[in-house]
Amino acid sequence: MKVTVVGAGAVGATCADNIARKELAEELVLVDIKEGFAEGKAMDIMQTASLLGFDTRVVGCTNDYKRTANSDVCVITSGIPRKPGMTREELIGTNAKIVETVAKNLLEHSPNAIIVVISNPMDTMTYLALKATGLPKNRIIGMGGILDSARFKYFLQQAMQCSPNDLHATVIGGHGDTTMIPLTRLATLAGIPVSNYLSEEKLRQVAADTMVGGATLTKLLGTSAWYAPGAAGAALVESIVRNEKKVFPCCVSLEGEYGQNDICLGVPVVIGSNGWEKIIEYKLNSEEQEMFNKSADAVRNMNQVLDTIVA
Ligand code: 2OP
Repeated sequence: MKVTVVGAGAVGATCADNIARKELAEELVLVDIKEGFAEGKAMDIMQTASLLGFDTRVVGCTNDYKRTANSDVCVITSGIPRKPGMTREELIGTNAKIVETVAKNLLEHSPNAIIVVISNPMDTMTYLALKATGLPKNRIIGMGGILDSARFKYFLQQAMQCSPNDLHATVIGGHGDTTMIPLTRLATLAGIPVSNYLSEEKLRQVAADTMVGGATLTKLLGTSAWYAPGAAGAALVESIVRNEKKVFPCCVSLEGEYGQNDICLGVPVVIGSNGWEKIIEYKLNSEEQEMFNKSADAVRNMNQVLDTIVA
């Protein structure tokens, strides 16, 4: 297996580090536009190999897409991260052009690759990657819901003092502070609804904290988070390269599922060697479906902005 990660910033490098530690690829190519940056990060990661005991070969390059040839999976993290007080949506002008160029460069050298999009605003960048490349929909996966669900589990774990590994909790909809939908009604601890343990008020607080989970970290760190986003990207790569068929909420192209069309939005999907292989359709109640529709409207408005940016 060969994996490419584009963007050697904090998220890309953390994703690459996780992929190397888990030995998800024989070769991992880290690409960045800044001269020497990816080379440096790759060398630093490689110098942990004998300490951590992994055999993945990590190499870095400056914008040399020939080095990425024949990758099985490509992860796009390129673009600018948000600063405190900024929404993910404000990044669209800069990041759209970058993501379109990167996706096209990757496919020129790895025509069979599965593309994982992490750059923000992620739902719109996933839609853009799908439209710009014309790839079959199953090969474009946006990483958002899996990260938001990990944050949802963190806040549930804090509230219940339980193991996060005993929790099933899913966030669907957009990867935005106001567009994501933590499905509290369907969240369980060891198979039992979390509403058996937490009051309605507490559950509302957990959902609210989850929705601004990224913004809270951006405020604390002065820039966007990287450990959980990097680990979430690597978890997707793992399910693809090991054909695990894990169910993760991801941003994928909807064609009638959840009542939506011509949009990429977060829903639970099975992830395997073909990319996203199947959409799991939850039976949403009317309130949840209404929230999902509103989320879709907001993301669709954002997608329309693309027409003014990308020629
Ligand atoms: C986050 O939520 C990077 O959007 C990402 O931290």
